[in-house]
Amino acid sequence: MVRVAGDKSLSHRAVLLGAIADGISQVRGFLPAGDTEATLACVQALGVRVERHDAQTLTIYGGTLHAPTQPLNFVNAGTGIRLAAGLLAGQPFASVLDGSAQLRRRPMKRVIEPLRLMGANISGVDDKAPLTIQPAPLKGITYEMSVASAQVKSALLLAGLYADGATTVIEPADARDHTERMLRAMGANVVSEGGRITLTPTGMPLKPLDMTVPSDFSSAAFLIVASSIVPSSNVTLTGVNLNPTRTGLLDALKAMGADITVTETGLEGGEPVGDIRIKPAALRGIEISGALVVRMIDEFPIFMIAALCAEGETLVRDAQELRVKETDRIAVMAAELRKLGAQVEEREDGFRIVGKQTLKGAVVDGHDDHRVAMSMAVAGMVAEGETVVEDADCANDSFPRFAETLQLLGAGITHEA
Ligand code: S3P
Repeated sequence: MVRVAGDKSLSHRAVLLGAIADGISQVRGFLPAGDTEATLACVQALGVRVERHDAQTLTIYGGTLHAPTQPLNFVNAGTGIRLAAGLLAGQPFASVLDGSAQLRRRPMKRVIEPLRLMGANISGVDDKAPLTIQPAPLKGITYEMSVASAQVKSALLLAGLYADGATTVIEPADARDHTERMLRAMGANVVSEGGRITLTPTGMPLKPLDMTVPSDFSSAAFLIVASSIVPSSNVTLTGVNLNPTRTGLLDALKAMGADITVTETGLEGGEPVGDIRIKPAALRGIEISGALVVRMIDEFPIFMIAALCAEGETLVRDAQELRVKETDRIAVMAAELRKLGAQVEEREDGFRIVGKQTLKGAVVDGHDDHRVAMSMAVAGMVAEGETVVEDADCANDSFPRFAETLQLLGAGITHEA
């Protein structure tokens, strides 16, 4: 039985929303990883007092945010900077939102453009970070997103808390709905209906949170795939977030013939949670496109390893968003897997892999992208001989103690800092 660390998406949201709640929030199971620590530090730089009882247990003294004295540094956290852009657009003070060289390369126009339509005074450098926000009155809008992005949706809903009138976001497919669930739990008026999400300001402050963050499905995903393809594993993951907007990988793997049993055990922090038991199985290739892509958007790097171990063709379409994650995950994964002898056909909006392929150990690179580094480590588990993943410390951006956790599955893996 393994319990992986807290959900990254929920941890970002818990500190950002706890910061503006009217009173004291208790957050258990916070993810103490690179991305979420960055957001927590930014919230503290906004004058919010946070008591840390241990790495995962926080008391957040919410209320009014204060002007930061320096640019806020979100390091590698795309979720942190985009959600905070929405939150800060509605504040009566100026702020600058920045991050690492990697974060500065990521597209911000997707939040700048709709926030400006709401009246926000926000600008970037060539539409990228650093972002500068000046105070401005906001008005509610109806906005149709061209990509199904939970970060964009969330930025607009958070700005909507400070807007005059209702804010409606229309999404082309159901992106993760953690912000909607958390806002509702805090007393906000958020209605979701047929791909339209409407937040209507109530004039009442948000109620504080009292929540336990469930385990991150996206971290569990590495163990789910590893246990499916490494012979004689038998692993049960407990307390995993089973929000259906996140669990597309389970549907994909089951369609490939994986032996996975899911037992829902209840709700934690307004999210369905449960246990996932995985046994190795012979996998077959499948085709993936459309809404399923959105429900497993962070899982494609590790899914590529499953596809390489599956018999026959796996074809992924409609996944061009992978090109604007921490790295271009289609190009980077294809290049690194080729070093192990894999054949991966890159497509503009996805990839094609014909298995089953034999991998040979080699030295590969994590590209400062946590999900790439961890996927390559799992590839190393099924490759013949030794695989070294360089630049793998970034695994800590979302999954503390990743190497130690893989050892629990019997992997002969060591981590040198
Ligand atoms: C996230 C949304 C997704 C996802 C990211 C986390 C979130 O990004 O890839 O890891 O917590 O809202 P997009 O909104 O860009 O799809």
